[in-house]
Amino acid sequence: MTKIQLKPEDIRFEKLTGENSHKIATFSSSVSKELDAFLKEKALREHSINFSKTYLFFHGDVLAGYVTLLTDKQSLKIEKGNPFLVQFKDKTEEPYMSVPALKIGRMCVSDNYNSQLETSEYHGLGRLMFASVLNNASELKNTVGCRVITTHAKKNTGAYKWYLKMGFCFSHNDEKTKDLLAKEDVEAIPMFYDINRTVGNDPKAYK
Ligand SMILES: CC(C)(COP(=O)(O)OP(=O)(O)OC[C@H]1O[C@@H](n2cnc3c(N)ncnc32)[C@H](O)[C@@H]1OP(=O)(O)O)[C@@H](O)C(=O)NCCC(=O)NCCS
Repeated sequence: MTKIQLKPEDIRFEKLTGENSHKIATFSSSVSKELDAFLKEKALREHSINFSKTYLFFHGDVLAGYVTLLTDKQSLKIEKGNPFLVQFKDKTEEPYMSVPALKIGRMCVSDNYNSQLETSEYHGLGRLMFASVLNNASELKNTVGCRVITTHAKKNTGAYKWYLKMGFCFSHNDEKTKDLLAKEDVEAIPMFYDINRTVGNDPKAYK
């Protein structure tokens, strides 16, 4: 099916609160039952105890996707770390142990918006949601200090390939990453994205 490309003006978002939480019942992802359940069962509680904040993305009245954000740090002492991480150390006089981060804790689009599903009508929501996360990161960068976006990308949904497309790098080196990808009991792979776009493995990222 030819899919409709979503544009920024097609989408609006709201932060999940007690007032709009009734809207989450309509969300549906068969691709990740776990992410579907997180939104319906845990997101509001995490919001209320300030452990994470969830943003709901609407296409018209339809709840099409969500992103859950929290603070984090990217360790520079990670075992078999990505050699690109060394560049963060080199840019400082002190031997920093970690880089301040914003974490994408959860992220999911509903089935009709999942571009990888043959039956879906739409394409491009994930990229628009990531643009919104970049806005959050920029704000943090200017107010409290934040240099990377981190995530644990799911293997079973192929999400790590999508994150690579968005410009993320694996937090481990090639050898360890291949090892993690091959292991059946490993569900997710740590990845990071340099907000300043000076550290990364995408040649277009170097300015
Ligand atoms: C990952 C996810 C949010 C992406 O959302 P989406 O709206 O389908 O993605 P987009 O349409 O914005 O994709 C942007 C680009 O990445 C591509 N892409 C999307 N999913 C991809 C995948 N799994 N592997 C490789 N490329 C992918 C798209 O084809 C598109 O390419 P183009 O710009 O060259 O045309 C969505 O697939 C999802 O919710 N997956 C299930 C839950 C999940 O795994 N979440 C991540 C938790 S860590």
